[in-house]
Amino acid sequence: MIALGCDHGGYRLMQEVKTHLDAKGIAYRDFGCFSEESVDYPDYAHKVGHAVQDGSCEKGILICGTGIGISITANKMKGIRCALCTNEYMARATREHNDANILAMGGRVTGPGVACGIVDAFLDTPFSEGERHIRRIRKIEEEQ
Ligand code: RB5
Repeated sequence: MIALGCDHGGYRLMQEVKTHLDAKGIAYRDFGCFSEESVDYPDYAHKVGHAVQDGSCEKGILICGTGIGISITANKMKGIRCALCTNEYMARATREHNDANILAMGGRVTGPGVACGIVDAFLDTPFSEGERHIRRIRKIEEEQ
């Protein structure tokens, strides 16, 4: 189950992402927002972060206008590793190296075609399980 969250700046792109996930038969839980009316991105980062923290969703996708505010917020949450990606290489690398559990994108930055490729790379790429990567992730957690 994938947790989805966005603000008004990410709403349109999130609709494209949902259509893409539907076409692939990937289950998701949509935590909103549900329109382009102005909202506060931390509220949606927290909802998605909690769903990943409590294990009810294995990964999350967050979209705001730039992807910056929503990823900063998610990364304040214990155990959350949220990666703001603008291309497929970043999405693959953050799964392999950082075991990122939330993908962030910018609805005013990334077009729908590129975004869907990023989503696929993020969801399809496993963590490398490399010893050096495990060590580095532990060091992130030590500071949380
Ligand atoms: C909302 O206008 C915008 O600030 C938000 O979507 C995001 O880009 C913040 O980082």
